[in-house]
Amino acid sequence: MSELLTIKQASKWASEYLKKNVTPSNISYLIQYGRINKNGNNGITLIDKQDLIKYYKSYLGTREINWKDKLGDDLNWALSFENYKEKETTKHIHRLHPYKGKFIPQLVEYFLDAHTDNFKKEVFFNSGDIILDPFCGCGTTLVQANELGMHAIGIDISAFNSLISNVKISKYDFVDLHKEIQKITQSLRQHIYDSNTVKFETKLLEKLAKIQKIQGIFSSPPYVGLIDYHEQHAYAYDLFGFDRNDELEIGPLFKGQGIEARNSYIDGITKVLNNIKKYLVDDYNVFLVANDKYNLYPNIAEKSGMKIVNKFKRPVLNRTEKDKGAYSEIIFQLKSK
Ligand SMILES: C[S@@+](CC[C@H](N)C(=O)[O-])C[C@H]1O[C@@H](n2cnc3c(N)ncnc32)[C@H](O)[C@@H]1O
Repeated sequence: MSELLTIKQASKWASEYLKKNVTPSNISYLIQYGRINKNGNNGITLIDKQDLIKYYKSYLGTREINWKDKLGDDLNWALSFENYKEKETTKHIHRLHPYKGKFIPQLVEYFLDAHTDNFKKEVFFNSGDIILDPFCGCGTTLVQANELGMHAIGIDISAFNSLISNVKISKYDFVDLHKEIQKITQSLRQHIYDSNTVKFETKLLEKLAKIQKIQGIFSSPPYVGLIDYHEQHAYAYDLFGFDRNDELEIGPLFKGQGIEARNSYIDGITKVLNNIKKYLVDDYNVFLVANDKYNLYPNIAEKSGMKIVNKFKRPVLNRTEKDKGAYSEIIFQLKSK
């Protein structure tokens, strides 16, 4: 005999059954991704208790529970994007060049696009907005913003990372491209060292800031002592003759994770946020993705004159790098204080 439950009743029942906090959003997620059936009744969603029991005993169900055991009950499983295959998380341009430390496009899309769900209850950005990623890496935020009809500005301390990003978001005429490629190769060095480009971009940014302010940021900053971003593409610096700015990297691996490194990390990220504020609209939304194991972001928010208004905790399961070990990370939502 089946017993039908509302979403709220199902979350209460599941919390008791699993002895873990199961929120109504968790139950909605299971319906949304077809893990359990939705039984409609006059517009009210009902769930068969047997379906829930079957799910929690299944491979996917036990996986979710195990992860929550490891990473905490507040883990938001809907942000695991575990239903996406690797070919989707590296879709079209995203696999253009190896890059250690990128986030998946689906995460960016989720926060940038116009959908709402039980968990994301408001739309943060609209087509035509300007999105900034001050740590744009290989350009994931920029590509996704462009796809959604948004303008995007990217900044990165590493010239090679900036090159990867620019290649991904430029518009191409493929016939012309063929002809131009030889010319570009010859003039690339000259072009990169041409300081007029930098002057032009600074002017452009100043002009843009006057015409239209930036709606917000979606970024995954470097973290303390995890990756040497220049070193990972050392060969490219040799090949192209780019200047290296290792000393200006925030939180590089070579500086470690000690107190001094953490303080310098806090300083670095705070400086970036304070620099950017004048270009942002008053009611900006700043989203920073970080596995903040040293709990540095409350301090960074305070020093940047911002407040953390929301924390979205997601498991990181689909990793494109060789190291497949999973962990959780938080998407901090910050607003003006
Ligand atoms: C976690 S990665 C960003 C990855 C990006 N979200 C993606 O999907 O490609 C952090 C980036 O911050 C850059 N970075 C480090 N220190 C910086 C600084 N002082 N200013 C600007 N960018 C910096 C690194 O070069 C790296 O590309």
